Amino acid sequence: MNLMQSSHLSDSSLPQTQAGLITRARGPFWLAPMAGITDVCFRQLMDEMLAGVLISELVSAKGLFYNSEKTRKMMRIHKNPGTIVGVQLFGESPEDIVQAVNVVEETGADFVDINMGCPVKKVVKKGCGAALMRDPAYLETFLSTIKKGIRLPLTVKMRTGWNENELTIHECVQAAYNSGCEWVAIHGRTRAQGYEGKANWDLIAEVKNRAKLPIIGNGDIRSADQAKRRLQDTGVDAVMIGRGALRNPWIFKECVGVDAQRSSIELLNRYLNGLRENYDTRSILILLRKFSSWLAFGYPGAAKFRKNMFECYSAAEVMQQAENFFNQVARLPTPCFEDSEAFMMGGHG
Ligand SMILES: Cc1cc2nc3c(=O)[nH]c(=O)nc-3n(C[C@H](O)[C@H](O)[C@H](O)COP(=O)(O)O)c2cc1C
Repeated sequence: MNLMQSSHLSDSSLPQTQAGLITRARGPFWLAPMAGITDVCFRQLMDEMLAGVLISELVSAKGLFYNSEKTRKMMRIHKNPGTIVGVQLFGESPEDIVQAVNVVEETGADFVDINMGCPVKKVVKKGCGAALMRDPAYLETFLSTIKKGIRLPLTVKMRTGWNENELTIHECVQAAYNSGCEWVAIHGRTRAQGYEGKANWDLIAEVKNRAKLPIIGNGDIRSADQAKRRLQDTGVDAVMIGRGALRNPWIFKECVGVDAQRSSIELLNRYLNGLRENYDTRSILILLRKFSSWLAFGYPGAAKFRKNMFECYSAAEVMQQAENFFNQVARLPTPCFEDSEAFMMGGHG
């Protein structure tokens, strides 16, 4: 962390390619991209929580091609971010992605991340997402073509392979290096695993050991202690936290030793302010209900609270219910989450 912070300062005058994009990260505890979640409001909140790097949810290159307003909205970046922010794309061809990056540039993003981890059928059927990992030689051509066509730094996020018999991670990381990518983030599961089983951190450590570019480890981090341990034990350059930040959005502050001063109500109010600047009433209600439910997870009465949430028809009602609930549980110990506990067992990476 300090190493990155100090190199961030000392290297800031160098061109990005020379300094390395990663030296501009605030620290080594990053927010993982999550579709339907890591929008501009959530990223801003996690920026305030001191997440080391922020990445948008996955955005379809074709969607941008057709100039969809909704797709553009997904890439919006808040004012004056405290660290680097990337936009994640997926697409069938490198040409589609190159064209989409022209639009990404207008958002002020610091880098473009390619999704090679999405296990969803609709995506892999088209040869996108995790399907790209089945042919590392093609992957190198794919990434090299993108790299040559864009000015923004390029990064990738992968899984460990297609399935247990096709653990192509080493070859794919080499392909990313040969193509000039800045780093590879690895969700330590195969495509076949989906979200089942455990992330394979031994394999992530092995990849880090061999790799010639920075490696970011990801999968199943639930607490600041776990995050720090993973970082230290595997030697990865940073760790990404996804679902763990939904139940505990203070996790990034805890990782860097800043007093998190947990107040769910204060956090919800800040989130609501961001939502009001970006969405219509209906979307505000949906997003606020979701976030409130995650915050309640693990406390006694959380299931009933969640049910009540879905009977609220205005943001004011949600806030009232939330205030009642979080006041009641305020003196209880913070919930700990077991590895075995299922929570959001699906996503795009
Ligand atoms: C709801 C949800 C949506 C996700 N969307 C994306 C996505 O858009 N792009 C991506 O690369 N990964 C996506 N992922 C995967 C996460 O970035 C991460 O790799 C995965 O959840 C494992 O990390 P975690 O255990 O810290 O959550 C998603 C995961 C979830 C749960």
